[in-house]
This record gives sequence, C-alpha cells and structure tokens, in this order.
Amino acid sequence: MPAPVIVEKKKLETPPRQIHFLGDRTLRQPAKRVAKVDEEIRLLVKEMFQTMYSSNGIGLAAPQVGVHKQVIVIDIEPDKPEVETLVLINPVIKKLSRQVCDMEEGCLSVPNVFIDVTRPEEVEVSYKDELGHPRTLKARGLLSRVIQHEMDHLQGVLFVDRVENELLLTEELRKNKFSPSAVKPIK
Ligand code: NI
Repeated sequence: MPAPVIVEKKKLETPPRQIHFLGDRTLRQPAKRVAKVDEEIRLLVKEMFQTMYSSNGIGLAAPQVGVHKQVIVIDIEPDKPEVETLVLINPVIKKLSRQVCDMEEGCLSVPNVFIDVTRPEEVEVSYKDELGHPRTLKARGLLSRVIQHEMDHLQGVLFVDRVENELLLTEELRKNKFSPSAVKPIK
C-alpha cells in the first residue's frame, strides 16, 4: 500500500530541488499529464514540499523545478504543522466564478516582486492526490488564488503575464534585476 507523503514543515540548508527564475525558458514549457501516480511522483512531491518550505513559499508547481509534469504542491499555512497540505496532480478547472477580485501575488520564480493580479474569486478543480485518488475541491480566498496561480505554471504562464499595471511591473522587475522582456502579457 502506498503511503501518503508526509513532510516536516521546515527549512533545509540544501533543498533537494532548484527553482528556476523568470527569464529561464524552462518556465515557459507546458507540463504533461502524469500517466501513473507512483513512487517516483511521490518522491517529486516530497522534494517539492521541502524546496517550497525552504524558500518560504505557499505553493510550487513542478515546472518551477524543471520538471514538466502536472504536479502542484500547496500549503497556505506553512507555520502550522497541524494543517494538512494539498497535492494536485493533473488538475482540471471545473468552474470559475464570474466574480473577480484583486489580490497581491508573488512567486518563488520571481522573488521579491509582489503585485496585484485580477482573477476569478472562486475555483472548482478536479485532480488526483498523491495516492492517485480522484478528488474535487471548491476554494475561495487565498487558496483559490494559489490554485489558479500554480495551475498557470503548468501552462507556462507566470503571474507577471497577468499584471495590468505595466509601469509598476516594469519598475518592480528592474529593481529586482529581472528583464521586463521576459514577461509575456496575456490578452
Ligand atoms: Ni509561482
């Protein structure tokens, strides 16, 4: 019987995976569906969590560590050991609310840049967990935001592509030594 992935919520001196940054073409390559949720995937999930906690993140998608598989790890309560984590494999959006809202986003692939992005307020998603069991989840607030942000990564889309305030974006990117030409604006 496969066991669920349990990871201690702490920082490691040498995280097992390396995060790719804006400007790296790896981030722009779409991820492929996972054919079988096996031990290899569970090891990837474990290492993604360890890498995410080590960088103070609350979500990480496999393409960010150079793996083009549809795997996402999320923990919006990284400081609360008792709160369960979330693993989304092959996630599919079933519903998005018509209602949209603004929320400040950041990304481990674009460190120190935090800017408002407009997205649907609620999301309903179906996916497999790390044991390969099919699940669905309805989310709102921060969790909905993180799910949508991470699912973008699976398509090679970054939150900076969705920022409407171009002037602010350019300024923030330059401040952090990122090239604004690495952004691929949507619409
Ligand atoms: Ni991100």
